[in-house]
Amino acid sequence: MAKDHSLMEDSNRSSNPSIHEVSKPERRVLLRGMAASTFLSPLATMGAISAATVAMTGCATTVGSAAKGPLLGFKGIPAGTDDTVRVPEGYVVQVMARWGDPVGLSGENPLFKPDASNTAAEQEAQFGMHHDGIHYYPINGSNSGLLVMNHEYVDDGLLHRDGLSNWSAEKVRKAQAAHGVSICEVEMKNGQWSVVTPSPWARRITARTPMVVSGPAAGHTLMRTAADRTGRRVLGTINNCGSGKTPWGTYLTCEENFIFYFNGPEQPDSHQRRWGLRKGDPVGYRWHQHDERFDATKHPNEINRFGWVVEIDPQNPSHTPVKRTAMGRAAHEGATVAMTKSGRAVVYMGEDARFEYIYKFVSRDAVKPGGYAANSELLDHGTLYVARFDENGRGTWLPLVHGQGVLTAANGFADQGEVVIKSRQASDLLGGTKMDRPEWIEVDKQGWVYCTLTNNSNRGGKDHPSTDVANPRANNSMGHIIRWKEDGDHDGLKFQWNHFVLAGDPINEREQAKGNVKGDTFACPDGLWVDGRGVLWIQTDMSTSAMGKGELAVMGNNAMLAADPITGEVRRFLVGPVGCEITGATGTPDGRTMFINIQHPGESPSERSDPANPTRYSNWPEKGAATRPRSATVAIRRRDGGMVGA
Ligand code: FEO
Ligand code: CA
Ligand code: CA
Ligand code: CA
Repeated sequence: MAKDHSLMEDSNRSSNPSIHEVSKPERRVLLRGMAASTFLSPLATMGAISAATVAMTGCATTVGSAAKGPLLGFKGIPAGTDDTVRVPEGYVVQVMARWGDPVGLSGENPLFKPDASNTAAEQEAQFGMHHDGIHYYPINGSNSGLLVMNHEYVDDGLLHRDGLSNWSAEKVRKAQAAHGVSICEVEMKNGQWSVVTPSPWARRITARTPMVVSGPAAGHTLMRTAADRTGRRVLGTINNCGSGKTPWGTYLTCEENFIFYFNGPEQPDSHQRRWGLRKGDPVGYRWHQHDERFDATKHPNEINRFGWVVEIDPQNPSHTPVKRTAMGRAAHEGATVAMTKSGRAVVYMGEDARFEYIYKFVSRDAVKPGGYAANSELLDHGTLYVARFDENGRGTWLPLVHGQGVLTAANGFADQGEVVIKSRQASDLLGGTKMDRPEWIEVDKQGWVYCTLTNNSNRGGKDHPSTDVANPRANNSMGHIIRWKEDGDHDGLKFQWNHFVLAGDPINEREQAKGNVKGDTFACPDGLWVDGRGVLWIQTDMSTSAMGKGELAVMGNNAMLAADPITGEVRRFLVGPVGCEITGATGTPDGRTMFINIQHPGESPSERSDPANPTRYSNWPEKGAATRPRSATVAIRRRDGGMVGA
């Protein structure tokens, strides 16, 4: 999320004992010394060996057998500040699926108008704004497939011809149409990818698309509104950030900072406060002015109908998306599916807000052969857990199950529906660890599960939780990546954990200069993707207001780096255009094309991309003086047709 990051939610005031109270200072010192882009082994975090030793020897013994040959075969590139996408020698970048390009609906292919005068109805047939999570679904292997992607949010200054002036119902509707998900067909001919128009699979899902609710919150009294007395039918999905792909072929889109779309009362109640609802329109979407359901003073339960993981079957254009409430309500960054050896699905989810939690959902049933038809209720039955990171590199998954432990009616949870709707409050009571903004989660070939903790400037601040073993830096401006390995399988209830990297620590710069540390530095990790060869791709999201300043000055624009999970080496692969963040990554099964998203190019330090600003920061990707910057997908290939990253 980029929009007005200064308002990044910070509503966890629970007093559950944070593990900072038992954190060992000497361990924190060592972690600081380990620094950026350096692999931290369990041994290192236990204080057994020095940072430099780890960096030079790698830690194959702790993560399983070494890969055959080097994983990272490209020549890394320097940080940069150009208004372009830079990649290593021998690679080519192709821009596609820009905001406003036709998505390929049958009979409707309105072209983008450079002055942004497209109507709301036209936007409903075009790619939305500010691309985020993305996945590839093969049709003809690595030559054609579906790309399914999120559109997280909009900059209204950029979206409408005359920006925010003359605010109207039509503008609200266009903004809602630029949110959600795009499904498009793509094909490669002679090494060039293009969107197929029209395509029978093409679809836009927006903030107004009818959806159904399933799982324990479906029909709950807290889900019922004047417009939907069943509590089972919701219009739309919003702030779709990260995403996941299920083994049965569906797409999981995640509703992140949904609360900012609502106008709240002067005096929010405790539930509203815990979810960050406030009076007015702090982020400026202004939807409630023309769409009453976003006015929580009139429709207080509407906020409970967002914050879910939504399942979509991209192979079926008439599928009604399903809000899967068994996986809990949160400012969901992403949802990453792992499988146990017994065939159960485990969904890992981070909640991107300061001092919020990491979750996992374990399905009750095993995945069955037969695609979505055979697994259409798989994500409705199972157990949701919140993570607690303990000292000594151990951790515990705490179940959010009504009637177990503290999650009783006496403590405010009438039933399991209320537990999942109020999963933050439940996690507060259970004592989950309050993290530094958990973003994407990925699983590597050795079974380690990685989570980016993008940053948390409030960590250790006045009236905020202090540092702890899992979140060891006060005023954590750079972020870190934590990882864990479950005891037994992905459904295990205990785990071991360590830090893969503490990003951007200045100490690392000195160690690098001395040759003690291999690798490139970065700050504010966000997107993660493990490719078919086992490379851990790391995408960064330094906020535009902080970029280029102070300790972030050396980092340049947001970037994508490739990490070797065995050696811990991190190498810069791509630098994005001015003011963008890099979001979402996927690829073809043959590993020869990688797709990533470039979000909010040209965003100004005020966290807007307003073209009315006389100092335009970026025209990426068109470069013409009269154009607006446009979020887009880029396809990355090697000139020689080889595997990306090898
Ligand atoms: Fe939408 Fe947490 O980035
Ligand atoms: Ca982010
Ligand atoms: Ca951002
Ligand atoms: Ca993100």
